Amino acid sequence: MTILASEIRQKYLDFFRSKNHAIIPSSPLVPENDPSVLFNTAGMQPLVPYLLGEPHPLGKRLADVQKCVRTGDIDDVGDNTHLTFFEMLGNWSLGEYFKKESIEMSWEFLTSTDWLGLDPEMISVTVFEWDANAPRDEESAKIWENIGMPTGRIAYLPAEDNWWAAGPTGPCGPDTEIFYWMGEGKPPRGSNVGTDPKNWMEIWNNVFMQYNRVDECTLDLLPAPCVDTGMGIERVTVTLNHLKSVYETDLFVPVLAEIRKIVGEGNYDERSARIIADHLRGATHMIADGVVPKNVDQWYILRRLIRRAIREAHKMGYEQPFTGGIATIYIQQFSSIYASVADNSEKILSELKNEEERFGKTLKDGVKEFEKIVGGFQIAFERSGKKVTQIAGSKAFTLFDTYGFPLEMTIELAREHGLMVDVVGFEKAFSEHQEKSRTAAAGKFVGGLGDHSDDTIALHSACHLMLAGLRKVLWDHVHQAGSNITAERLRFDFTHGEKMTDEQKKAVEDYVNAAIASGLAVSITNEPKDQARASGVEWSFWEKYPDIVKVYSMVGWDGTIYSRELCGGPHVENSKTMGVFKIQKEESSSAGVRRIKAVLIK
Ligand code: ALA
Repeated sequence: MTILASEIRQKYLDFFRSKNHAIIPSSPLVPENDPSVLFNTAGMQPLVPYLLGEPHPLGKRLADVQKCVRTGDIDDVGDNTHLTFFEMLGNWSLGEYFKKESIEMSWEFLTSTDWLGLDPEMISVTVFEWDANAPRDEESAKIWENIGMPTGRIAYLPAEDNWWAAGPTGPCGPDTEIFYWMGEGKPPRGSNVGTDPKNWMEIWNNVFMQYNRVDECTLDLLPAPCVDTGMGIERVTVTLNHLKSVYETDLFVPVLAEIRKIVGEGNYDERSARIIADHLRGATHMIADGVVPKNVDQWYILRRLIRRAIREAHKMGYEQPFTGGIATIYIQQFSSIYASVADNSEKILSELKNEEERFGKTLKDGVKEFEKIVGGFQIAFERSGKKVTQIAGSKAFTLFDTYGFPLEMTIELAREHGLMVDVVGFEKAFSEHQEKSRTAAAGKFVGGLGDHSDDTIALHSACHLMLAGLRKVLWDHVHQAGSNITAERLRFDFTHGEKMTDEQKKAVEDYVNAAIASGLAVSITNEPKDQARASGVEWSFWEKYPDIVKVYSMVGWDGTIYSRELCGGPHVENSKTMGVFKIQKEESSSAGVRRIKAVLIK
């Protein structure tokens, strides 16, 4: 028997109501008081002030269903589990119950036949292993054992897996995660996420929020330990119905059927259809929450989703307007759950129609233009034997400016042809177009980057880390005064009056190499300039920047912030490939300015 997502949503709220939780409404997708993120990415985001100690008007036990958007895995959309928009079921203790009650309630909700009635044998869990910030979470493991979880089903995993934070600062802590078996039959004895990560799908995350990350060096205790849990409704619907993919649930089946109908059986492509279904679902909720398609921030993400959906339809040979028809299905599905959708149904349809008209006109010509560029590469290759593998930034900019191709779409098209795009060149063309001063563009490193090879990018990331290291070792008077990066080395000028000692140079190298070794993630946020400046973001040329600035944070797997600067990118995806950082020379550049030459040794 099919269990509908709407029934699960209702059961979840009924369960936590029966456990004395106040049910709070979903906040809009765009955070109301937090300009550091474009969309809510977790149920806890609107609750941050309360996790930090402010009393919540509805008490200390809360539960809700929160609309969320995560775009970090957008390239994986189309597989069985990844989505951009999703609904997160969440419950919170604001300084009241902690590990024992939280775990026991999750277990009861999942396995009791009064509630979801999942087979306990199909479930395994993970707990936090240990690191310098917090001890091994034997307490949670013991609670799981007492519930009846065999020890073989409990995996201790490191912070990378079992430490949760929404961003580089804010409430965080160790977590215990609950997984469901997706393999054939029953899981073998002793199987858990540590031994077989592929066959276990995460369904619920219970975070034991005890800390507040203030900055890279400061991890404060929260005023009271809290619980923050999150469970994606789409994935639970998969497990309860013994399915393999979120697209097989009632949330998506009618939409995929409609796509199949309009494009025709022979043209239907499952991955394209899934991308359309995901992206237009997200677009429907974004517009319902007041976002309209434009070229910056959340508006740009909305534009990207709609335009990518349209291209996927073109790929299946379908060039008629269709987004409204798909959105209508979602409007019906969600109107009784979210007033935002019911109240804005006309706006959703008209915004989609306008965007579809705008882009529909240019998409075909843009694809032709793209093919012309690629054809030119082929001709050049035949004539001279010279293989061009990179689309120039100026060309990518023309596709953006004249044909409305979001940069990411050009990158995707390029990838489909085995080519790359000069992203730095694109950004340069973009900012020149915006009539930003040349000095500002050069200051953003972009001007200093001669090419866009992996080696250059790695040295660029190293530059950021080195500046953070210099400011730590030599202190706050150090700022960037200039830089020049080639694929072989970096040259970096900074404000400092004296020759550095060998110990100081070594300390800076150690800082950079520790950062590299920590598996850095790079996050980008758009922040109001004044806020960024006040929060200690490093930069030298504030007056040349617009009111909203792009801040790059480089964060280690344990949440340590190694660098926070204004920047135009690009950065390495994984610092582990960077190599070993070595300062080769430190000398005077001009009065009060020193110059470092440094390399990365692979
Ligand atoms: N905030 C936690 C998460 O999103 C529950 O996984």
